[in-house]
Amino acid sequence: MVSLQTVQQSNARLATLPQGLVALFIGATSGIGQSALQHFAQHASSPRIYTVARPATVVSHENLLTSLRQSNPTGTYNLITADVSLVSEIDKVVNAISQKETRVDILFMSAGFMAFEGRKDTREGLDPSMTTRYYSRLRAVQQLLPLLNNAAVPSPRVISVLAGGMEGPLNEQDLDLRDANNWSFWNSSVQSTTMGTLALERFARKNPRLNIVHWYPGPVATPGLAKAGKFGMSPPNPMSQEEGGARALFLATSDRYTVPGGGGLVPKPDGLEVAKKSGGGIFLIDPLGESTDNEGLLAEWRKRGVDEAVWSFTQKVFAACADQGTDSSKDEL
Ligand SMILES: NC(=O)c1ccc[n+]([C@@H]2O[C@H](COP(=O)([O-])OP(=O)(O)OC[C@H]3O[C@@H](n4cnc5c(N)ncnc54)[C@H](OP(=O)(O)O)[C@@H]3O)[C@@H](O)[C@H]2O)c1
Repeated sequence: MVSLQTVQQSNARLATLPQGLVALFIGATSGIGQSALQHFAQHASSPRIYTVARPATVVSHENLLTSLRQSNPTGTYNLITADVSLVSEIDKVVNAISQKETRVDILFMSAGFMAFEGRKDTREGLDPSMTTRYYSRLRAVQQLLPLLNNAAVPSPRVISVLAGGMEGPLNEQDLDLRDANNWSFWNSSVQSTTMGTLALERFARKNPRLNIVHWYPGPVATPGLAKAGKFGMSPPNPMSQEEGGARALFLATSDRYTVPGGGGLVPKPDGLEVAKKSGGGIFLIDPLGESTDNEGLLAEWRKRGVDEAVWSFTQKVFAACADQGTDSSKDEL
């Protein structure tokens, strides 16, 4: 377990790093992502921050950015309006950041929700709870590869906040759970998590500079968890949002979570070992910052090429979304 004090000390050391880290946050309008963004803006030196909000949350998010500008005027804070429940909107985000930057050092992804109220497909024909937690996240990694591989730091960071280490049964015959008999809010959560780990591992193997963390935060007292409470999901003793964001930032910036020969961000805290990667090459991390092991399931899937099947299916989904055009003004969500 990494103590909160260690996390806070590490995060404070961000101020000693070279100026101008470029970070993109997807999901920072609320909860863990919002807190991670606040901690990053507080500690980083002249950060160049890009953050995504869907139209309904643009005003409140711009207010947050205004307060961050006041507390750290050395940073730049750019809001990109996009609804990441649509895969095609990710391309809009990537296009916006590519106009201004040639590199991305940190990609932080925490958008997502549990679909307690049932499946309501987007105009792309996908379950938005799966899109926010799987398709759009992987589309962001795929489309940002040139910028990530051009990062100023030796090991650019990708952090996905969901349920790393909690991969479970995968419906291989119906990957996007199209059959109503296969879909439930729980199945779509497990499917997003499992496909996420397999696809992120594939990216890690093909892009050895990338540091990828898939974090399971455990219960964190966010607006998302408050909503889950209305549907009977109220786990005891959740972590505070403040702590969740601090721990998320630690995972995104500590060289404890780094590939061999990588690093370049905050040196690993004294007394802690470098974290152990999964057999597929990413960091599956538990709520308190330790590596978890789900090789019993993952190794078998990799051996059977399920990771390749998942990615091949995902690319077909991306192609179908691209074919439908990108006119977001038609979106009804
Ligand atoms: N909190 C926990 O206890 C917990 C535990 C395990 C895993 N997780 C996972 O960790 C991630 C972050 O959780 P959190 O508690 O910080 O969540 P949160 O407070 O609900 O924030 C979720 C983020 O996702 C965006 N989002 C939600 N629904 C969306 C939709 N339909 N379309 C587009 N964007 C949408 C939100 O945007 P808006 O602000 O515009 O709504 C917000 O930026 C989620 O994927 C969650 O499933 C959370």
